[in-house]
Amino acid sequence: MKKTKLKSGKIRAVYPGSFDPVTRGHIDVAKRAISVFDEVVIAVINNPSKKTRFSVAERISMLKKSLVREGLGKVKVDSFEGLLVHYMKTIKAGIIVRGLRAVSDFEYEFQMALMNRALAPDIETVFFMTDAKYAYLSSSIVKEVASLGGDVSSAVPPSAAAQLKKNR
Ligand code: PNS
Repeated sequence: MKKTKLKSGKIRAVYPGSFDPVTRGHIDVAKRAISVFDEVVIAVINNPSKKTRFSVAERISMLKKSLVREGLGKVKVDSFEGLLVHYMKTIKAGIIVRGLRAVSDFEYEFQMALMNRALAPDIETVFFMTDAKYAYLSSSIVKEVASLGGDVSSAVPPSAAAQLKKNR
């Protein structure tokens, strides 16, 4: 029997990612995840060898503000370094949440899910389909459009739109 549940019977899920910055698609996935699991922790990766537009503190701040704005204050935000499954063991989480937008996401997600399963067979990966209206969104495309002066307010929450404008 898998130990995906806490002793209390509750299920703690982790939604990991770069969130550089958070998009409306990410928020949509978080909303779906908290409707299914008892606890959801958004885990921002802190990978010093990967260049990001925003610091971990900035990414966390944008996420927290967006979640409160959407009435998702129940979703926690944290950061992690190193292997995701190691972090999950330390906080006793049993489920990895990831969002899927299109078939093109599948290959990378499939590889990650199977690698995480090989590393930690007790941890399951669960995918949520984003709302179709966000299927074209990614942090990278949002950063490109914002850096060229485009309006990204329909793609990211206001806290991220403001940061992108400031950080152009
Ligand atoms: O938002 P992203 O960049 O697609 O998120 C990728 C992330 C952070 C989930 C992935 O790179 C990750 O889990 N990194 C931690 C290192 C790790 O555990 N690697 C093995 C699993 S493939």
